[in-house]
Amino acid sequence: MSANAGPVEIAGLRLAHPVINGSGTFDAIAARRAFGDALLDHFPFSAFVSKTITPEPRTGNAPQRIWETPAGMINSIGLPNKGLEGFLAEDLPRLAELPVPLIVSVMATNREDFSRLVKAVADRDEVAAVELNVSCPNVHSGLIVGEQPAETEALLEALRPLTAKPLIVKLTPNVADPAAVAVGAEQGGADAVSLINTLKASAIDPASGEPALAAGHGGLSGPAVRPIALQQLRAVTAACGLPAIGMGGVSSGADAAEFLAAGASLVAVGTENFRDPRAGSRVAAELAGSSSAGFRAASVLNLQ
Ligand SMILES: Cc1cc2nc3c(=O)[nH]c(=O)nc-3n(C[C@H](O)[C@H](O)[C@H](O)COP(=O)(O)O)c2cc1C
Repeated sequence: MSANAGPVEIAGLRLAHPVINGSGTFDAIAARRAFGDALLDHFPFSAFVSKTITPEPRTGNAPQRIWETPAGMINSIGLPNKGLEGFLAEDLPRLAELPVPLIVSVMATNREDFSRLVKAVADRDEVAAVELNVSCPNVHSGLIVGEQPAETEALLEALRPLTAKPLIVKLTPNVADPAAVAVGAEQGGADAVSLINTLKASAIDPASGEPALAAGHGGLSGPAVRPIALQQLRAVTAACGLPAIGMGGVSSGADAAEFLAAGASLVAVGTENFRDPRAGSRVAAELAGSSSAGFRAASVLNLQ
C-alpha cells in the first residue's frame, strides 16, 4: 500500500482514506436514487462536500451551461441551489444518511450573509465542516473576496468566532498569487484550504461563431488543468502552514499520488465523477494498490 493511501486526519476530521469529491461534481441525492442503498455500502468518498449553497434559492444560468474542450470542460452552471432554508429542510436530512462526514459548501456576497450561512449550517450536528466558496464578488466592495488576501482574511475574522468546526477556504486559481490569499485565510483563522476551483475560460461554438456558453464564459476543469493545480498547490503549501485539499483534473490513483506528493493532505475528484460515478472509489483503490504508474511511464520515456 502507498504510504498516503490509508486513514487520514485533517483539521480534526478522521477520514478512512484521502479521496473526497469536489463541490458541485457529485449529486449524492440523485446518485442514491439511481443506485439505491448500494451507494451507501460503497460510498466513493471518505467525506462528502455538498454543492455550494447560497442564502436564497438560485436557478442558475440559462443553457448552454457545459462545453467540452480538449481534456476538460467549461461549465457556467451558475450555482443553482435551493438556498439555505431549502437545503436545511430538504437536502440536509438526506445527506446526513451518507456514511461519511459531511462538509457543506457556502457562498454569499457580503459578510452578513456569509455569517448567517456559516452559523446555520455549522450549528447542525450533521455537519462536520464548512467550506467557504470565496469566488464571488462582495456587493459592498465589488471585489472578488478570494482574489484579495486582505478581504479573505477579514471574512475569516468575521466567521471564525461563529463556530469551532473546521472552516475550509476554497481558493480561486484566477489570481497571480494564490499563496498570498492562502496566507490571508490562515491569518484570519481558517483550518484548511482547498484548491483549485475552475479557471476562467471561454469557447466559441464553431456552428454559430457565438460564445458556446449562454453566460459568455465559464470555468475550465478536468485533466487540462492538473499541472496548473499542482503548481498552485505547491506554492500554497510552501507559503502557508494549513493542510490543503488538492484538486483539478484528478482521474486516477497516479494523478492523486501527484497531488499528495505536491503537499496535499486530501485529494478531491471533480469532473471525472461525471464520466464515472465510482471514480472516487477507483482513485482510492488505485492509490492504495499501485505505485505511481504515471511517474514510471515518464521515466521510461526518459524525458529530460
Ligand atoms: C459542473 C461543475 C460544478 C461545480 N460546482 C461547484 C460548486 O458549486 N462549488 C465549488 O466550490 N466548486 C464547484 N466546482 C469546482 C469543482 O469543485 C473543482 O474545484 C474543479 O472542477 C476542479 O476539479 P476537477 O478538474 O477535478 O473538476 C464545479 C465544477 C464543475 C465541473
